[in-house]
Amino acid sequence: MSETEIKKPQEEEASSATTTTSWPDIEQELVIPEVLHSEGVKKLHKSIQTEWDYLQKSACQTAAGRALWKHVINDPLAHLFAGETHLRNLHKKIQTDLLNNAREVSGVILAVRTLWFDSRIQAALDSFHSDDDSSQVVLLGAGMDARSYRLNCLNKSDVFEVDFPDVLQAKTSLVQAAVESRNELKMTARSLVRAAIDIRDEDWFEKLKKSGFQPEINTVWVLEGILYYLSHTEAMQVLNLIADKCAVTSTVLLADFMNKPSATLPNSVFHFYSDWPDQLLPTLGFSNVKLSQIGDPDANFGLLHDPLNLFSKLLRLPRSALVHPDDGTPCCRLYLVEASGSPPPDSSIENHL
Ligand SMILES: C[S@@+](CC[C@H](N)C(=O)[O-])C[C@H]1O[C@@H](n2cnc3c(N)ncnc32)[C@H](O)[C@@H]1O
Repeated sequence: MSETEIKKPQEEEASSATTTTSWPDIEQELVIPEVLHSEGVKKLHKSIQTEWDYLQKSACQTAAGRALWKHVINDPLAHLFAGETHLRNLHKKIQTDLLNNAREVSGVILAVRTLWFDSRIQAALDSFHSDDDSSQVVLLGAGMDARSYRLNCLNKSDVFEVDFPDVLQAKTSLVQAAVESRNELKMTARSLVRAAIDIRDEDWFEKLKKSGFQPEINTVWVLEGILYYLSHTEAMQVLNLIADKCAVTSTVLLADFMNKPSATLPNSVFHFYSDWPDQLLPTLGFSNVKLSQIGDPDANFGLLHDPLNLFSKLLRLPRSALVHPDDGTPCCRLYLVEASGSPPPDSSIENHL
């Protein structure tokens, strides 16, 4: 998701805080790579624009965020995955923000969120690799995530990208187009499986296993920009199932949570929220829960220094505050949460598989 999800719930691009990392010349930031002009890719993006619903299109909107914030995120596929329409839309918003000296530049939440997940995935895999060399990374609602092509830390991991069939088919075609247009695209993950699964289905985990997922192998679960699109019941089913895996193997959950004011703005497309995910997750069986907010020292990346920006203001208010005391506007927060768990050393896993 992104701050735009918080400020303008129908869209995925975020508005957010003033950057100290100075912006490059925004006029030159809009790059439309040659491959986006090829007939096949143009046709595919046209069908995405006309046939996909807002949920599926959110995958391309987040890719546009990574593409336009390329001065801090290296994503070789972001432009191609986003498509020209989403690139131009977000570019225009950033141009306007910069012209108006906005304290929050569109897409900064996406940028911070991406960098936070990157750093926490790397840390989780490092913690596993001290015991055992094999690991799995499952991206639920993977959308146009390109980590399997951009994170070297995945070189010993089997990656599973889970999303709707249309999204994964389009993604595969776009990767193929990238490979055909330039030979240097390399996968950085040890292996990659795209699993077309609706995680609202009760048997989604069985389907994941059928696609090759092995419950007994150390796993990082990446739930980035997905939980709040699910109903409360669906989200809790997913979280409970992942929590159960803590009894089977070393398990790390990385997820972003909206608080209630974020998910319940007028015309919101969001459902699930949690104001206290750091209290919720231990009740499901996770331990070592750590919650960060956008702008915290580990969720800042040099992009959010203005003490008057939205995020700095939120950090100064207690988390129980639902509205800003000065103007009564809702306190929309996005929590970045890491939780983990492992079986006790002598436990038998057979009963949990
Ligand atoms: C906002 S995008 C985030 C994509 C990616 N995680 C990222 O951060 O770039 C949400 C993604 O979740 C997928 N999604 C939403 N509901 C889903 C479901 N029930 N099952 C599988 N995927 C789902 C959408 O198709 C979309 O690709």
